[in-house]
Amino acid sequence: MKSVASAPGKVILFGEHFVVYGVKAILCAIDKRITATSQFIDERKIRVRSEIGNVELDLDISTNLDSIPSKIMKPFLHIAKETLKDHDEKRGIEIYLESEIPAGIGLGSSSAACVATTASVTGLFEKKSKEEILKKSIESERIIFEDVSGADSSISTYGGMIAYSKDGIERIESRNNLSLIIANSKQIHSTRELVLKVREFKNNNERLFAQMCEQESKLVENALSSIKETNLKNLGLLMRQNQQMLEKINVSTDKLDQLVKEASKTSYGAKITGAGGGGCIISLVDESNVSDTLDNLKKISDCFVSKIDFKGLSY
Ligand code: PMV
Repeated sequence: MKSVASAPGKVILFGEHFVVYGVKAILCAIDKRITATSQFIDERKIRVRSEIGNVELDLDISTNLDSIPSKIMKPFLHIAKETLKDHDEKRGIEIYLESEIPAGIGLGSSSAACVATTASVTGLFEKKSKEEILKKSIESERIIFEDVSGADSSISTYGGMIAYSKDGIERIESRNNLSLIIANSKQIHSTRELVLKVREFKNNNERLFAQMCEQESKLVENALSSIKETNLKNLGLLMRQNQQMLEKINVSTDKLDQLVKEASKTSYGAKITGAGGGGCIISLVDESNVSDTLDNLKKISDCFVSKIDFKGLSY
């Protein structure tokens, strides 16, 4: 018996970085997924196979994950190990992960993989609710990123759009779809380093930064209304304004500036998505400007069109 589950990646539409200081951020699930397929095996082992590497835990030797060199694989082993224990199951599990989401560029691939793996592995025994799967998935991510917010896992589980702040997660009811072009700068970035860089900016510019947070809060509220009305012109304008704020706090790079500039020529608006310093930009399009924008961006980057995924976890 095979248990299959898939979950989508995400982009941040508005509010990255400022969210760390209490402003709301808007996230949306994208129609690129990770699929996890699990099955029992007769050996007492947990085996994970994926395009980014393979890992094996021999349960007869040790169940300790400290010896596993690949940090990124630990949550998957943890999910399988705990599920086998909960059910007092003596067999092992093999998990196969297939991804349409490029890894390490801020599109939520690790959270999507945890959500899909949790649903797939627990599905070998019983069908759990989305709430239970989300909780277990966040627990598994916390073994490698202690202060993970849970926002990426939430959007991956429920799909659609969410407004996320320190006070919690609100689902956005609108089911109006948006088309985005996602372009990859191919520059490696570290979210942690960029968050620290912004903290330094804040510490050196306390008053200015407080004003910027206020401005960003208004921008996000305005974006929430524009999403409900599918007002693409206004959303594009707000994306441009958000990009200017991100440039001001120094998280853009020459390559990201170039991508944003190129995308802005034909789309409604474009901005960095996520931490910046590399990673991806998003630009808002519809059928009137999608091919021109794609043609422009293709000359200088790897890019693809994406729509909002309203399904979330499928299992
Ligand atoms: O790298 P991403 O796409 O997961 O985005 C990080 C978002 C930040 O606001 C920069 C950090 C955070 O923890 O919210």
